[in-house]
Amino acid sequence: MFNLGKFFSGFRIRHRLKTANKFYVQHEYKKAIPLYKKILCDNPHHYGALCNLAAAYFEDGDYKNALSLFLQLQKVDSTNPWWQTYLSQIYQKQKSYRKALNSAWQAVNLSCGSTEHQINLSYAFYEIALIRGKDFVTDMVQKFYDCYPDSSIAQQCYNTFFSPANSLKCNLRYVEKIFDVFAPEFDEILHRLQYDSPSFVARILADFYQRKKRKLHILDLGCGSGLCAQAIKKIFPRSIIFGVDISAQMLQQADAKKVYFYLSKNNLIDYLKSSIEYFDVIVAADVFTYFGCLDEVINLASHHLKKNGVFIFTVSQNLHNRKKFYLTLSSRFVHNFSYIKKLLKDNGFLNVKLHKKVLRKENGKDIIGGIFLAVKT
Ligand SMILES: C[S@@+](CC[C@H](N)C(=O)[O-])C[C@H]1O[C@@H](n2cnc3c(N)ncnc32)[C@H](O)[C@@H]1O
Repeated sequence: MFNLGKFFSGFRIRHRLKTANKFYVQHEYKKAIPLYKKILCDNPHHYGALCNLAAAYFEDGDYKNALSLFLQLQKVDSTNPWWQTYLSQIYQKQKSYRKALNSAWQAVNLSCGSTEHQINLSYAFYEIALIRGKDFVTDMVQKFYDCYPDSSIAQQCYNTFFSPANSLKCNLRYVEKIFDVFAPEFDEILHRLQYDSPSFVARILADFYQRKKRKLHILDLGCGSGLCAQAIKKIFPRSIIFGVDISAQMLQQADAKKVYFYLSKNNLIDYLKSSIEYFDVIVAADVFTYFGCLDEVINLASHHLKKNGVFIFTVSQNLHNRKKFYLTLSSRFVHNFSYIKKLLKDNGFLNVKLHKKVLRKENGKDIIGGIFLAVKT
């Protein structure tokens, strides 16, 4: 028989859930939390409300309540890797670093080595190593590599922690995976990290060309989601911009901005080796952070520039030691400015200008670097 009471109760729950979820996606967690709680009061086994309440507590920074709910969820559904990933992040906030590493590791195994959970584990290694020192995480890095030797993420972690001195560049498959995963949120994340190199690059070019609306033929190396081309197009609307990137997902974001004449999915070294084009400007913003040795790329860029062509790129400064380049725990390279100046000179760039600046934030800290503008003679 039709039960009117049950019908209305079901309707009320669905309506509350819809409203709570709306608040959740708008980051209004304090408004979403009481609604999820009301649903659970009426229906204590409502799985969706329980999951979302746990996530809302987490996003709102209430790690105590989030922890107890995620532990509850883990009991209900012990095979879901996401509960372990959340638990790992909560343990990290609570400074229980060993537990944080174990949970991140369990998430990788439960997900049968999925890329997202491997990336989360690699970030846990980096963040915890910064606080507790490298030795605290090396056993786990070794275990990760031993269990997933074919994973580019495990390989990159191994190199970062065990042989940084022998690393000349980042593992290309690792770079591709990281950016494929981050692509949909890349612009938003970079905005939060106060990344303003694209507008800086565009302003430096505007000054160099004395704000004349030139029709420039530009190559954007590691173009990512197209932030540089977007900024340059505002100043040089008639310019023709080519973009190359290894990440298909980043290229999809770039394509949507409709500022490129042509986009290529390729390793930028291979692109430069096979291209027969010559450019007025070559841009590489926040890309050399994935290359240690820059000898080859600077040589190739020089070959693809017209006379008086401009090479403009950013690098993070090596403030750790006196080496030409250095692989940091974040699996990103930093460079010695004198090494770069010498390379530019050796490759026919005589007029070189360096703008020192904070490039972005990393783990709350300023990343000091520079924007080089070098003119090919
Ligand atoms: C931090 S993002 C910067 C994107 C863009 N230049 C900007 O300033 O917004 C770095 C980009 O370089 C790309 N990249 C790194 N190494 C590359 C390589 N060897 N070949 C092609 N693309 C590469 C990555 O896929 C990623 O999209």
